[in-house]
Amino acid sequence: NKVVLAYSGGLDTSIIIPWLKENYGCEVIAVSGDVGQGTELEGLEEKALKTGASKLYIENLQEEFVNEFIIPTMQAGAVYEGKYLLGTSFARPIIAKRIVEIAKKEGADAICHGCTGKGNDQVRFELTIKAFAPEMDIIAPWRIWDIKSREEEIDYAQAHDIPLKISRETNYSKDKNLWHLSHEGMDLEDPANEPMYEKILEMGVTPEQAPDKPTYITISFEKGVPVALDGVKMSALEIVLQLNKIGGENGIGITDMVENRLVGMKSRGVYETPGGSILYQAHQNLEELCLDKETQHFKMQTSIKFSELVYNGQWYTPLREALSAFVESTQQTVTGDVKLKLYKGNIIGAGTTSPYSLYSEEIATFNEDHVYNQMDSQGFINLFGLPLKVKAMLDQKNGKK
Ligand code: ARG
Ligand code: SIN
Repeated sequence: NKVVLAYSGGLDTSIIIPWLKENYGCEVIAVSGDVGQGTELEGLEEKALKTGASKLYIENLQEEFVNEFIIPTMQAGAVYEGKYLLGTSFARPIIAKRIVEIAKKEGADAICHGCTGKGNDQVRFELTIKAFAPEMDIIAPWRIWDIKSREEEIDYAQAHDIPLKISRETNYSKDKNLWHLSHEGMDLEDPANEPMYEKILEMGVTPEQAPDKPTYITISFEKGVPVALDGVKMSALEIVLQLNKIGGENGIGITDMVENRLVGMKSRGVYETPGGSILYQAHQNLEELCLDKETQHFKMQTSIKFSELVYNGQWYTPLREALSAFVESTQQTVTGDVKLKLYKGNIIGAGTTSPYSLYSEEIATFNEDHVYNQMDSQGFINLFGLPLKVKAMLDQKNGKK
């Protein structure tokens, strides 16, 4: 029999390979989804085979990740608990979906992942597997084996001749892709501790270390999709990568938060999302011009639900798909150029233009205009204020005022 393993090459998924073979007597096929985690993919095939896998698939998912997951979530304005740009959350459904495809192609009996039983990632992987392969068996070693700590993992690795280039010194639990880098564990587990940013940060610098001079950029959007940076046409993927660099250099997109995990506990993490933070802000500035008030306000309400669906691993659900259809329909006029000033961790608007702008200088001006009749306001305020006027009259009659 065969098991397909979601493989990263880290300590956890490395020891899972011999563990699966020992406990299930199965062939192990490893799959790594490339969502832009970078150098971690080098030498991975050799490592997987040496560790006992019969095959390693490396699937390039970067374009799909940006176009089908990141951009729709950004357009929805989805931010979990007002702070987290969901970098790990939407990376799980895309990887899990591809793993299911490979498992079916290989005729595998089960899919295995290395998530702990205490986190969100297990839910995100398994909901996606259920959505595409409802009959598939799922193996989650962390929920069944006797290994309890990183030390015990290293002992197991050494007893099974697993090639590992890691030291016994513990490290943060990190998750990296082209959108973000997350840090959890160690000293961060006590929310009273200030994060040691200078030690932690990898995608950029602290605001203090950023240049004393601002950087100006212009992002162009077509129907809510970023299509150019400083007038140069490029793919959304390329724009995200460039913004990561520029944002990182300017100390942008560093978030420290205590979040509510789906599995009940609060957890503390530091997130680096330099390019993502810029893109969200730019897109919002443009929507301020292009969306009518009712749509804009309604969209703000649905963004919270959207963020919960993404966070909770419910990407492949009817509600997420329906909300995406709504969001897409709002994006038809979100076209234009957004200029921003990046300065020591701040993203400051520096001018926005759109051919679909609903902003009318002629109407809003403090100077004389010819379209807005100020006398119309009198009747409007009389009707708008009628309920509270009636209430006040009643209070007066009852001697309450
Ligand atoms: N707390 C974040 C989330 O739930 C990040 C999780 C990071 N995952 C990891 N395997 N280190 O989305
Ligand atoms: C894990 O527990 O596997 C990582 C953290 C999370 O899933 O939230």
